[in-house]
Amino acid sequence: MELYIDTANLSHIRECASYGFISGVTTNPSLLAKEDPKKDVKDIIKEIYATVGGHLSVEVNSLKTDEMLKEAEDILSWFPEATIKIPMLPSGLGAVSELAKRGIPTNVTLVFSPTQAIAANNAGATYVSVFMGRLDDIGMNSSDVLDDICEIWNVNEYDSSIIAASIRHPMHLLDAARSGAHISTVPYNVLMQSLKHPLTDSGVAAFVADYEKMKAAKAGK
Ligand code: G3P
Repeated sequence: MELYIDTANLSHIRECASYGFISGVTTNPSLLAKEDPKKDVKDIIKEIYATVGGHLSVEVNSLKTDEMLKEAEDILSWFPEATIKIPMLPSGLGAVSELAKRGIPTNVTLVFSPTQAIAANNAGATYVSVFMGRLDDIGMNSSDVLDDICEIWNVNEYDSSIIAASIRHPMHLLDAARSGAHISTVPYNVLMQSLKHPLTDSGVAAFVADYEKMKAAKAGK
């Protein structure tokens, strides 16, 4: 399972990119709104792409097919490798199928059910983003929903990739990997949490202490 970072925060993206374990970035209007409001969205997006390259999903804000397509053209003029993120609406599916005809990658977002996921795939989506945290928020079991969707993908041999999104904690990440999601897009804090283990920290501290003892002994201290 590939890992993407789900943020528009450049310093977090830069840091995780330097560790070499993420292969893409997903953004959305809410994540962009958290960044410097004086900065142009286009400039933030271009800077993110220049920093990491790889996958970068950029979301449209319009709700009508033709306006989504215009926005997509605009985003593609910023960098032609963009993946256009489109909400799971009938009008969104119209835009997805038109972009698919043009060979432009799309990421259908705000998917909460297997039937929505099937429709997104059939419209020609490249990526289908299933929101785990928000399902749990309304008392549903996100892991069961993702299991169903992954099984449907296997049985039908669909080509599109499933992105587990709205990841709130490392257990979501594990559930996504177990279900067979192709990608998880994960906020910075959860990515960093997922790297930590108390036994790693105590093990490193013990190795450092023993190394220092050895050095001191050699220096005759
Ligand atoms: O990738 C989708 C994600 O950004 C939504 O996460 O935590 O706002 O539900 P959340």
